[in-house]
Amino acid sequence: MKRIETHAGGLDVIELPCQVPFPVQRIYWLRDTPVDATRGLHAHRTLRQVLVLVSGNVRVELDNGHTTTVHKLDVDNPQLPIEPVTWRVLSEFGEGTVLMVLASAPYDPDDYIRDYSTFLAVARAS
Ligand code: TYD
Repeated sequence: MKRIETHAGGLDVIELPCQVPFPVQRIYWLRDTPVDATRGLHAHRTLRQVLVLVSGNVRVELDNGHTTTVHKLDVDNPQLPIEPVTWRVLSEFGEGTVLMVLASAPYDPDDYIRDYSTFLAVARAS
């Protein structure tokens, strides 16, 4: 992401396709999330994503079936790629957080893995 500061505020730019590691086919964003909510709690079989924090802050836990990493997205650290077969847990949403997601495919409910033990079996077999 290119970050530009002007005398009247900032401007952040993502140019496609060169700044995202896949062709983007869907863009959506999470908004109005209560600060005590937990979102995610699923993995995708094939979908690739990049999280882009537009405003606020959020904690993102990524689990690939072997190791878990914790990422605090905020104004200084706004982007996070998520590869397929990664269990994600989003929590600790700041007030007014808007989290944009760039995704490699259209919405497909069959691509979701919503059961953690199924996720572990898929992750450990791959
Ligand atoms: P979900 O991916 O479970 O959201 P989160 O992990 O942020 O809580 O999606 C929430 C609901 O929205 C679910 O019913 C599926 C639906 N949905 C779509 O219809 N299209 C989409 O592109 C997405 C991401 C979700």
